[in-house]
Amino acid sequence: MDQILVRGNGPLNGQIAIAGAKNAALTLMPATLLTDQPLTLTNAPRLSDIATMTQLLRSLGSEVASLADGKVLAMSSAAITNHTADYDIVRKMRASILVLGPMLARDGHAIVSLPGGCAIGARPVDLHLKALEAMGAEMDLREGYVHAKAAGGRLKGAVYEFPFVSVGATENALMAATLARGTVVLKNAAREPEIVDLAQCLRRMGAQIEGEGTSTITIQGVDSLGGATHPVVTDRIELGTYMLIPAFTGGTVECLGGRLELVAAFAEKLDEAGLSVSQTAAGIQVTRGGGDMRAVNVRTEPFPGFPTDLQAQMMAALCTAQGVSVLEETIFENRFMHAPELLRMGAKIDVHGGTATVTGVKNLRGARVMATDLRASVSLILAGLAAEGETVVSRVYHLDRGYERVEEKLRALGAQIERIKE
Ligand code: EPZ
Repeated sequence: MDQILVRGNGPLNGQIAIAGAKNAALTLMPATLLTDQPLTLTNAPRLSDIATMTQLLRSLGSEVASLADGKVLAMSSAAITNHTADYDIVRKMRASILVLGPMLARDGHAIVSLPGGCAIGARPVDLHLKALEAMGAEMDLREGYVHAKAAGGRLKGAVYEFPFVSVGATENALMAATLARGTVVLKNAAREPEIVDLAQCLRRMGAQIEGEGTSTITIQGVDSLGGATHPVVTDRIELGTYMLIPAFTGGTVECLGGRLELVAAFAEKLDEAGLSVSQTAAGIQVTRGGGDMRAVNVRTEPFPGFPTDLQAQMMAALCTAQGVSVLEETIFENRFMHAPELLRMGAKIDVHGGTATVTGVKNLRGARVMATDLRASVSLILAGLAAEGETVVSRVYHLDRGYERVEEKLRALGAQIERIKE
């Protein structure tokens, strides 16, 4: 397993290009199953999760061509020749569950392995199933697989209210509803930019959707969808991650393609902590003037609140802020696994349940640390940029799932970082 070695060094300065959003691409790709026409995604990120979704779609009978060094995904699903999403692929990536809604909508039946938990929590899929059942799907759980059938062969109109916000369940239901007979109303739907991006792509394919980005999405089902070409929205989590660099090293970083409306709640917290954030013509510029970061309190919430996917990175930045910060993680039940690794670097963090209290220290010291999940891995690399001495992060396969060519992007800013191939 590869490792990443990073040495603390002075201010980093320069521009960093932000890729297309992993969490948009992972729901846009299964949309190919909704139509027998070509669906092409541009601005696609080059990540191992995309390769996993490609492998899954091909196993179902889709053609997926990766073009332009992976930035273009040309897909076509003339027919779904296999309706079973196998455990061996699904267990590698939870987002695989997002082929369930499209297969049910297209052909009225599907068999999808339950994803199993992951490092940050149990992550059940009960809301995915309940929303599809509301549209007339019958679900039978057998040997770890969901055997789903649309009663009468086609999903139907329904009104479904999510008991709490779920990004993936909203995406599955939204895709399934596009081909239902009748009107589907999704209440307490997720409002993430990735949902808006999916709705815009589906509309290009001929879907009739209103309200994306609000808590109520209304879909008028149609008999079939056409093809489209759609640019994947900018990755707001990669954007937020790199906006934080000046918090660790000082200097000025411009994140190309960044738009403030994608990260408004996060940018407000950076401003409160003493960074200056501004929208430029090319993207978002962040600089740290004199003085230390100030402690701030953070509570993760569904969009438009502070994103849970930026909590680990923010915690790492607050380790050397002046004062005491309190971070509340309200989305996942076990998303502080980066804390023990930061403690190894000299941080002062107390974790009680879903709350972490960070007491700022003068500086961190390099250490050998272990990545535990995707976002924790990048927060350890950022901490290594700020630490005295050398940090070696192991299990970086987590990192490669969601961050495109990290060491290249950081080295271009002047970071001393290299990948040690094992
Ligand atoms: C998406 O996961 C993202 N993944 C996650 O990003 C992100 O952290 C999460 O949304 C929240 O924003 C992708 O888009 C591929 P949820 P998802 O359904 O859809 C519980 C990353 O780092 N829940 O909004 O799985 C669930 O356990 C990843 O890129 C149920 O109980 O998140 C969690 O506690 C990590 N039953 C909460 O709801 C369900 O049926 C929110 O989950 C579904 C979810």
